Amino acid sequence: STARGSGARDQHLIVVSNRLPVTIKADSSVPGGYTFSLSSGGLVSALSGAKKSMSFTWIGWPGLSVPTADEAYIAEKLKHDYSCEPVWLDDDVADAHYNGFSNSILWPLFHYHPGEMEFDEHHWLAYREANLSFAEKVREVVRQGDMVWVQDYHLMLLPLMLRTLIEGSSNQGAHSQRELDHVRHGLDGTSFLQGSEDLAPAPASAKIQQARGNGKGTADGSSRRGAIKIGFFLHTPFPSSEIYRILPVRREILLGILHCDLIGFHTYDYARHFLSACTRILGIPTMPNGAEFEGRYVHVGTFPIGIEPATFQDGLNREAVQQRIKSLQRRFEGVKIIVGVDRLDYIKGVPQKLYGLEQFLSDHPEWVGKVVLVQVAVPSRQDVEEYQNLRAIVNEAVGRINGRFGTVESMPIHFLHRSVSFDELCALYAISDACLVTSTRDGMNLVSYEYIACQESRNGVMILSEFAGAAQSLNGSLIVNPWDKFAVADAIQEALTMPSETRKANFEKLSRYVGKHTASWWGSSFVKELRDLKVTARAGGDG
Ligand code: ADP
Ligand code: G6P
Repeated sequence: STARGSGARDQHLIVVSNRLPVTIKADSSVPGGYTFSLSSGGLVSALSGAKKSMSFTWIGWPGLSVPTADEAYIAEKLKHDYSCEPVWLDDDVADAHYNGFSNSILWPLFHYHPGEMEFDEHHWLAYREANLSFAEKVREVVRQGDMVWVQDYHLMLLPLMLRTLIEGSSNQGAHSQRELDHVRHGLDGTSFLQGSEDLAPAPASAKIQQARGNGKGTADGSSRRGAIKIGFFLHTPFPSSEIYRILPVRREILLGILHCDLIGFHTYDYARHFLSACTRILGIPTMPNGAEFEGRYVHVGTFPIGIEPATFQDGLNREAVQQRIKSLQRRFEGVKIIVGVDRLDYIKGVPQKLYGLEQFLSDHPEWVGKVVLVQVAVPSRQDVEEYQNLRAIVNEAVGRINGRFGTVESMPIHFLHRSVSFDELCALYAISDACLVTSTRDGMNLVSYEYIACQESRNGVMILSEFAGAAQSLNGSLIVNPWDKFAVADAIQEALTMPSETRKANFEKLSRYVGKHTASWWGSSFVKELRDLKVTARAGGDG
């Protein structure tokens, strides 16, 4: 075995995700020429939360391309202020990787929207190329004995590439040779195996030095095998294998992540779907907690993600937020507030939410003028056509419903198509009597957790789609099928009229769960499991 138990405390953690926690924008009016602001989305929220309790280097794509002369300034700023390392991608590679393969192929497929999926060979090539750029960046940063934790659907080939680039190992089992070739070759006819070098020696403790022998690879690279541990976490659902198998490169993507030591999902169902795809598509033996892949055991587990509730409680304690809460309460006196916060994404079921509200107002005209939905819709992935279409559908529905039920004094829907500040978000959550999440599919959904974290004094009602991962854990919510507008309407009615004792009892259950299953807990349980895993021999390896 290549396990290095005794040196575990010295292992450095490298987290790799497509999105970095900061969004960079060119702005000639500020010193340095760029602004840095917080990114949105569950992945960034959870990893930023986890970062409060564990240290890691965070590698990711800055989200823009800049003149080469500016790269050093941005890299320096990212490193100093955020411990991040940028991966620069060419504009067209970035576009075809992010807007193309990631968000027009994998994202719709993983969320059961195969109709939106458009497979394009060019996007696949760019996906590989971008993954390779990430792999090269990891190789610069990583030291022997480190752990690399790869995040999400943008980087599913990265584990395979890291094994090859860093460890020089290539599983050549019968299952996968054709697909491995498909992944490895074809980047301008060259193989990324070329240029594979020894790892830079770590400034490591004697224990690690000892564990890795003389630290030098042999000509065939065999002594590098097992040099790093690799984990992967998927922040989206993993769909049923009946949906997954539509993907033309279904084998390559599975093989990409099977080169990990540990693969994590939010829920047991997603893990089960993944394992059954491995059996049905690759024909490899699987057990409930892992798969045997070419001579070694790949561990598979569920690690439900969470938030840092303390961040929201601190937010609510700030004077400015308290003032804002008071002023919003005055503004909405005598009116019940339902809050919705979503990236404007078709998986969030925003049209379904609006149709449910419309049904509610038409079933219960006595509520007209006495309830408002405040919907924050954060613009997202606006270069992808499906997102543009969605915006038109949502605008039409908001206009129609406000036109139908609005009065001179009030409108039933307050629609904000923009990002709001953290303080404003806290205040909005706190003043709302209910939160409505109607995702048609959603890996977890952290907005529901955040709402609960802000409901200590109000004990508002969480209405949650059964298709969000959170529905498996947030016992005490009202669970609805977002496709059934009558059911959504009934849930709204039930939420607005729920007795305070029931709300309190539900809130206590929910709050206990959210308080325990935090982002830090998620991050540390994954990393602990990865660290403690015994690595079994790889095919042809020296373990
Ligand atoms: P997803 O990851 O699909 O976007 P989640 O509900 O899991 O969905 O996570 C959304 C995250 O984005 C939440 O943590 C939420 O607070 C955050 N968010 C929403 N609006 C903003 C905003 N305006 N600025 C920063 N973060 C935001
Ligand atoms: C989801 C994905 C994340 C992504 C986030 C925001 O949570 O799982 O990987 O970062 O959405 O989307 P964006 O495309 O802006 O990164």
